[in-house]
Amino acid sequence: MEVIIKANYEETSKAAAKVVAEVLYAKPNGVLGLATGSTPLGLYKELIRMHKEEGLDFSSVRTFNLDEYVGLPPTHDQSYHYFMYENLFKHINIQMQNVHVPSGTANNYKAFCEWYEKRIVECGGIDIQVLGIGTDGHIAFNEPLSSLGSRTRIKTLAKQTIDDNARFFARREDVPIYAITMGVGTILEARKLILLASGKNKAKALAEAVEGPVTSMNTASALQLHHNAVIFADKDAAANLKMAEYYNWIQKNKPGAPKA
Ligand code: F6R
Repeated sequence: MEVIIKANYEETSKAAAKVVAEVLYAKPNGVLGLATGSTPLGLYKELIRMHKEEGLDFSSVRTFNLDEYVGLPPTHDQSYHYFMYENLFKHINIQMQNVHVPSGTANNYKAFCEWYEKRIVECGGIDIQVLGIGTDGHIAFNEPLSSLGSRTRIKTLAKQTIDDNARFFARREDVPIYAITMGVGTILEARKLILLASGKNKAKALAEAVEGPVTSMNTASALQLHHNAVIFADKDAAANLKMAEYYNWIQKNKPGAPKA
């Protein structure tokens, strides 16, 4: 695992966007795994800028989102379909038939989840998966105790997550209790994982994920099992990392390292 600590949210977002863009320059029909929430907004803003000013091309890119609230149709302004369209898709030259977001209104969720997993494989697997981290250490909606081998399925959201996400809804009671989410096992199959974390409220969960034991109590800790996982954290989110100095030392000396 690599840990890159930046001074603030903007720098963190830009550094992560650069890594996503590198994947797409190397493979123009690459498969992107995308996240929602506040954290990736700066990354999406930077990708939009790169598209408009530097010609970053999304015309052959395929995407898969991590999750969606059960019960919210794509037109709902708090659905993740809506979020993705408003914050990324409508600003770039992606073809909407190449976009996949789990359905929150499927007739048969089991069949849908199986189809979603199959569709990822049909597209050749995810080249780079963007992740945020919940204050309870979740990645996607893999709440504490989610199996580290889990696949796309319905999850009951933890009370902590409902509290955290209530800020986006008119009333706490409006936050859906269930979500459809890629599993930890699904996520670990992506070729590269980048997890972004910003703000003091993420410091505890991030430190446990990076420096604690691998445990289903903090599903982000499963990134320790991945061979190509990079954490991008701002100073506030990195505040509880005991080995921060060591991570900075590695980054400082990386340019001089012999190519593997
Ligand atoms: C959303 C997702 C979640 C969020 C996490 C952090 O697609 O996968 O795991 O990344 O809840 O949310 P924010 O960024 O709003 O703090």
